[in-house]
Amino acid sequence: MKVLVLGGAGYIGSHICKALFLQSHQSVVVDNLSTGHRQAVRWSQFIEADILAGEQLKQILREEGPFDLIMHFCAKSLVGESVENPAIYYRNNVVGTLNVLDAMVATGHDKLVFSSTAAVFGLPEADKINEQHSRLPINPYGQSKKMIEDVLADYHHAYGIKSVALRYFNACGADPDAEIGESHEPETHLLPNILKAAFADNASGLKVFGADYPTADGTCIRDYIHVNDLASAHILAGEYLQTNDGAFAFNLGNGNGFSVLQVIEAAKKVIGRDIPFTVEAPRAGDPPVLVADAAHAKATLGWQPLYTDIESIIATAWRWHQNEMF
Ligand code: UFG
Repeated sequence: MKVLVLGGAGYIGSHICKALFLQSHQSVVVDNLSTGHRQAVRWSQFIEADILAGEQLKQILREEGPFDLIMHFCAKSLVGESVENPAIYYRNNVVGTLNVLDAMVATGHDKLVFSSTAAVFGLPEADKINEQHSRLPINPYGQSKKMIEDVLADYHHAYGIKSVALRYFNACGADPDAEIGESHEPETHLLPNILKAAFADNASGLKVFGADYPTADGTCIRDYIHVNDLASAHILAGEYLQTNDGAFAFNLGNGNGFSVLQVIEAAKKVIGRDIPFTVEAPRAGDPPVLVADAAHAKATLGWQPLYTDIESIIATAWRWHQNEMF
């Protein structure tokens, strides 16, 4: 396939570009480098551009296409920031994606894999969240992604755009060759913060946000999924769209929940060092438990996550963090 990867310089997009390359697919990356890294684009042609520039986007699709598939990772994605500054979430995630869709319609492209999130569901009504779970987001980030999921259904009906929305649970881990990995500024995610705290010169230490949740050890439980398992799901979703017509959605997780303290314990084992932390007040908008039921993706796309235990996921992230290049 020839694939346009919007946001391919970011954490998840760059891992997908490597996976595409390893499976002999061709990719072109468009990224504004607002949070992505130019050094992470190593297996693709690179064009610096912003999806908010709709006319430029159309020009890229016309001049560089036709593409068999568009993958769209460009988004603001922090829950807390979205509560404080919803305008940038609706602008980037909603207006930006409308630009992508309109550029696709204008240039005759009709297949999209869209990055969605577990945040579309809001507070869990079941132990494991499947695709039938109600979508009642509790923050503007989740709301912005839900809005686009609804737009995708309408664009399929009216303009024939075929799409797969992939709802990630907690993406983590790094390329097993440690060529690329997770690098955000500022870093808010649990696993990279644990690994940073493991470095002796990290003065700030690790903060555990809340130890009084209704869970066995009082800390939040999440479903941690390796970024390369997300990558394989994207490629399968893209292939699925070559022969299936609709606006589809799949939940992507391991189906296993780990508490914050369990992740810290697992990291201690992998690294062989103590990881000091302090318990702080809970973070606004954090649900106590979020675990995926990914049976639909497995049955329909033939997807199988390879990293099923948390320690092997942490080991790949640790290798990258020891040697972080950007
Ligand atoms: N946590 C800490 N200390 C930290 C960072 C996180 O205790 O330094 C805790 C959080 O409070 C939460 C858990 O670790 O309980 C996981 O937090 P992350 O920030 O790593 O991930 P989130 O679950 O908040 O976010 C993820 C995705 C979002 C998505 C969300 C769905 O990154 O894009 O799941 O709720 F919206």
